[in-house]
Amino acid sequence: MIITIVAGARPNFMKIAPIIHAIQKAQDKKRNISYRLVHTGQHYDKNMSDTFFEELNIPRPDVNLGVGSGSQAEQTAGIMIAFEKELLRNPTDLVIVVGDVTSTMACSIVAKKLNIKVAHIEAGIRSWDLTMPEEINRMVTDVLADYYFTTSEIANINLKNIGVKSDRIFFVGNVMIDTLLANMKRLKKPEIFDSLGLEEKKYLMLTLHRPANVDESEKLKALMSEIVNNVRGLPIIFPIHPRTAKIFSELGIQANNLHIVAPMGYLEFNYMVKHCKAVITDSGGITEETTVMGIPCITLRDNTERPETCVIGTNELVGNTPKVIKPILNKLFSGNWKKGNIPELWDGKTSERIIDILLGLQL
Ligand code: UD1
Repeated sequence: MIITIVAGARPNFMKIAPIIHAIQKAQDKKRNISYRLVHTGQHYDKNMSDTFFEELNIPRPDVNLGVGSGSQAEQTAGIMIAFEKELLRNPTDLVIVVGDVTSTMACSIVAKKLNIKVAHIEAGIRSWDLTMPEEINRMVTDVLADYYFTTSEIANINLKNIGVKSDRIFFVGNVMIDTLLANMKRLKKPEIFDSLGLEEKKYLMLTLHRPANVDESEKLKALMSEIVNNVRGLPIIFPIHPRTAKIFSELGIQANNLHIVAPMGYLEFNYMVKHCKAVITDSGGITEETTVMGIPCITLRDNTERPETCVIGTNELVGNTPKVIKPILNKLFSGNWKKGNIPELWDGKTSERIIDILLGLQL
């Protein structure tokens, strides 16, 4: 069986790593499986891409389509044109796409139009918010895919509701958590930890990159000011995404307790999360990692495609208006944050389950 694995943007890399490692294990056992890794080039900076390959032991991609940035349509079109050529040059039995980035959707469309089977890993999750490009990417990918690997029972239900047959849905757990658990002992203290004199549980981590939070400068300014003023003087470490950095430099936000740093590598970022008091974020993936690490997480969004992080885990959705910040931080400092549990099958063995299932399919 020949598989083409697609990765395009930062949150894809930690999801493909354990899948590739599980394929390598199957190859060691002489199973008939090989893969070709295609990087679309959606993310291209060293600290948004290369670092993850090095740290997570992901082999160099067989090809980088070098698509780069652009509007949603430009990026989608660029990926589709380049990926079609790639698939015609290198025939494959199955395309694996992960998550919900533009590369996920664009490559699914191309594969299906060439009559190639598609497996979607992290299928079926829904925010029902069509202002998010990721939601459209999820919906399109899930209409087209042949095999669906899911992280939760809710995802299974969402898929059944759009007519996906039960025998195509495989509830296997969470590949991102495979990576987290495999690397827990390798997490690396970044230099800033000591240079800023940080102490365990006495600083917060902040990440913001969604258009809804960062594309309007006045709103971002108001959010930031509420955050820095309500953390009781604790340091806030803010690894800044390129999208946010572009706008941030014009805002002139400065505070003694706000430390803006470049995007961090996987091992350093998760070290910082593991030891912090809480995370404030608009990411989806980070809410899964904080759930597994038992770290309080405040999500500045109105909705989430990962409700289990709130119902079972340590995440709380608070919306993204500046007025919500003070009350939620008061709650955090009152010491009554929920402890949370780990969702079913988020046990570090998801990728092995996926490869076992794929090997049993008649492709
Ligand atoms: C993408 C994903 C999002 C994911 C995020 C993680 C989509 C629709 N969104 O959003 O789901 O949470 O990645 O980072 O796929 N840029 C750089 N260097 C890079 C990459 C991007 O400077 O290596 C700049 C681009 O020029 C662009 C901006 O960052 O202006 C946004 O990049 P883009 O890939 O369009 O989407 P993200 O916001 O990163």
